[in-house]
Amino acid sequence: MRKKIVAGNWKMNNDLAETEMFLVELKKQVFPENVVVMIAPSFTNLNHAFRSLREHPVKIVAQNMHQSNEGAFTGEISAKMLKSVGTNTVIIGHSERRAYFKEDSAILADKVNTALENEMTAIFCIGEELEDRKKENHFQLIKTQLSEGLFHISDAAWENIIIAYEPVWAIGTGETASPKQAQEMHKFIRKTVAENYTEEIANNVSILYGGSVKPDNASEIFGQEDVDGGLIGGASLKVNSFMEIVNAFEKETGNRT
Ligand code: PGA
Repeated sequence: MRKKIVAGNWKMNNDLAETEMFLVELKKQVFPENVVVMIAPSFTNLNHAFRSLREHPVKIVAQNMHQSNEGAFTGEISAKMLKSVGTNTVIIGHSERRAYFKEDSAILADKVNTALENEMTAIFCIGEELEDRKKENHFQLIKTQLSEGLFHISDAAWENIIIAYEPVWAIGTGETASPKQAQEMHKFIRKTVAENYTEEIANNVSILYGGSVKPDNASEIFGQEDVDGGLIGGASLKVNSFMEIVNAFEKETGNRT
């Protein structure tokens, strides 16, 4: 079912003490009932965050995982390990993983399968580089990322998929896609899902926008018809700015329910 979601991707930030400080503040907050709130701390702090937020409506998400269920993969983390520490959701294919860790579509498709086999939800990230947009190749690129990484899954598996559209040129740069550009791409993504699956599946999938979402631009972006929330990097590291974004749906100009 399509949901409003705000997920904080902490990346390689916040050690245990900093995580604890964040959680103490977060637990004082009142969360809107109609928004699913998620945070993705580092692997080392997942269990601490899970235990600390047990009574709170905040989901703990992993930033990555290995595609194999177990084995000789020094330094890697499996789906089973994530589940055992309280994490049922994992970000797959973030552009930093694609660029710095050379995760290609074949690896990402395997990771999606492993997440689904383990009854986890995958936040599958897609997004074009500035070059692609300049060459007006961005729609084709997004279509390819979707078909190579995601479109092998069954109809039923869509229950456990969230898509995050994050134009690479907008990540951590202070540069955001305009609300119109975000809507245009989100609509295209939904249409592409409908063409490859069904209208119903396309209408039910949540599509998040990511890339320099801040308290002052969140409500306009979230107000777009096909934008169901955000994957937030920098602005998710402070409780105040994160909560302003979580509450940004309230201020939307559109008339969504
Ligand atoms: P940003 O990161 O909000 O700092 O641009 C978003 C992301 O990479 O998920």
